[in-house]
Amino acid sequence: MCGIMGYIGAKKASPILIEGLEKLEYRGYDSAGVAILDEGKIQVRKFKGKLSILKLDVEENPIEGNMGIGHTRWATHGEPSDVNSHPHKSSDGKIVVVHNGIIENYMEIKEELKSFGYKFLSDTDTEVIAHLLEYYYNGDILEAVKKAINKIEGAYGLGIIHADNPDMLIAVKKDSPLIVGIGEGENFIASDIPAVLKYTRKVYILENHEMAIVKKDSISLMKTDGTPITKEVFNVTWDVEAAEKGGYEHFMLKEIYEQPKAIRDTLLPRLSNGVDIKMDSINISKEYMKNLRRIYIVACGTAYHAGLIGKDILERYVRIPTIVDIASEFRYGYPFIDQNTLVIVVSQSGETADTLAALRLSKEKGARALAITNVVGSSIARESDDVLYTWAGPEIAVASTKAYTTQILALTLLALDMATKNESIAHEDKECIIENLTHLPSKVEEILSNVENINSIAEEIYRSQSMFYIGRGIDYDVAREGSLKLKEISYIHSEAIAAGELKHGTLALIEEGTPVIALVTQDRLYDKTLSNIKEVKARGAYVIAIAKEGNSEIQKSADKVIYIPDVIDEITPVPSIVPLQLLSYYVAYKRGCDIDKPKNLAKSVTVE
Ligand code: M6R
Repeated sequence: MCGIMGYIGAKKASPILIEGLEKLEYRGYDSAGVAILDEGKIQVRKFKGKLSILKLDVEENPIEGNMGIGHTRWATHGEPSDVNSHPHKSSDGKIVVVHNGIIENYMEIKEELKSFGYKFLSDTDTEVIAHLLEYYYNGDILEAVKKAINKIEGAYGLGIIHADNPDMLIAVKKDSPLIVGIGEGENFIASDIPAVLKYTRKVYILENHEMAIVKKDSISLMKTDGTPITKEVFNVTWDVEAAEKGGYEHFMLKEIYEQPKAIRDTLLPRLSNGVDIKMDSINISKEYMKNLRRIYIVACGTAYHAGLIGKDILERYVRIPTIVDIASEFRYGYPFIDQNTLVIVVSQSGETADTLAALRLSKEKGARALAITNVVGSSIARESDDVLYTWAGPEIAVASTKAYTTQILALTLLALDMATKNESIAHEDKECIIENLTHLPSKVEEILSNVENINSIAEEIYRSQSMFYIGRGIDYDVAREGSLKLKEISYIHSEAIAAGELKHGTLALIEEGTPVIALVTQDRLYDKTLSNIKEVKARGAYVIAIAKEGNSEIQKSADKVIYIPDVIDEITPVPSIVPLQLLSYYVAYKRGCDIDKPKNLAKSVTVE
């Protein structure tokens, strides 16, 4: 995710752009820049780091000019740096582009343009668009844009300016949000409504394959092939704060709802024609697999819980012993690490102190380190031998949601890749998992479109003092994450127990009405967990089962059932956690908790 802002009018553009970008910082904040057209020349200022660095620079050395584009970045291709920051210029410096999204075929285009003599300064996918526009430009910028759009594949919200066309901004949209703000004698483009709310409440919301030619006094809307279109003006009624959260009351809820997109973004670039895995960013060869003796997965909190799911799929298909450890334990333990060990560190922020220390220790002992992280250029990404990014976009709420689901997917893709190289997975199994992964975003959408049952269950349990989560196998792993989610945002005591372990102690705590959330999604473990449900039921528990659609039998044993779409057992953790995230959210909401910023916790834990 990144934020785009554009302005054309009679006022000085730079302060308006920076103010707009401030409202978009939730979309990314590792670098920022603006490009302003003044007297036929485009000036670009861009810096790594927070928007405040750019703001200070522009305050100290003001830029004149009444039109321009700006960008706040969340790095995908190329680490955060001045040169990788947007805007990006064409070689002649006349065309400037800001971009939100990912250009999937940028390497191919880059090679082609290089062969024509174009020189690239950055590692970004965006820079190819600027050069491509110059390549196609033949006196008509619109024609050049149409041709470039035909050539690029992937997701893009684009803001484009051209020095020879000082009266227009061009906005293009596919799979990344973009709006046009309608002002009086001035107009705007932006990734999201809050950026323009100070100036106007009237906007056009662009749809895929649409573009806008935005002038001071007019806006022309068209398809990307040039066919003119008309659109209804959308009148914004929300306040700025609500608008930043996309109309959701909390970032956590917004991020729960962003999961289909985060899943798609993490999966699709790594699925080759929907039948194979392509892992360009990591370098694990068949040769390496031959000498690999053990795998460690090291992480904290939610990322640790994702690691537990990773162990299951790695051991099942790669057939290499895999140990999952909490980073703060691992670093003071006696791990078995040598050059035949792969240490996978998982971290949303890429800055968690314990995980970073575990990574450094592993490398010192000769292991190869592979990071799964959401933040390009983070310390963990920089210090690891290989990095597999989760493309979840910035996660603002302290409670991790979309990072967890995408971490599971990254681990699943990694396991499939390693198992292929290890020749330890049957072709049919791999095909079946990939097929199921492909449908995962729409399965999660299904859950998110029908939340009433979950909300009404929350209504029944939100006054509880204590709750338990039970399950077996990966259901138990998901139970641990569900339990963490509940306790951290609702402050209700909660524990996850391996269902078969209840009778060894925890059963003593089950009383009349104690909520027990029982995950029963694993076919081979179903009967066993059902017996454990009966055990807690017999002690008065109020059982809420998470089961696969079609299992009507479970209704006889549970008080309430939350159904998840039917997927193969290996990938149930993704659909299973979504209702548990929502349940925690609704419970915390009904208890009046500060959901996005729970007490005593921080988003990024950079101290030991
Ligand atoms: O940034 P990281 O993934 O390394 O963070 C690890 C934990 O601090 C984090 O997952 C924490 O447990 C979450 N807030 C839980 O929702």
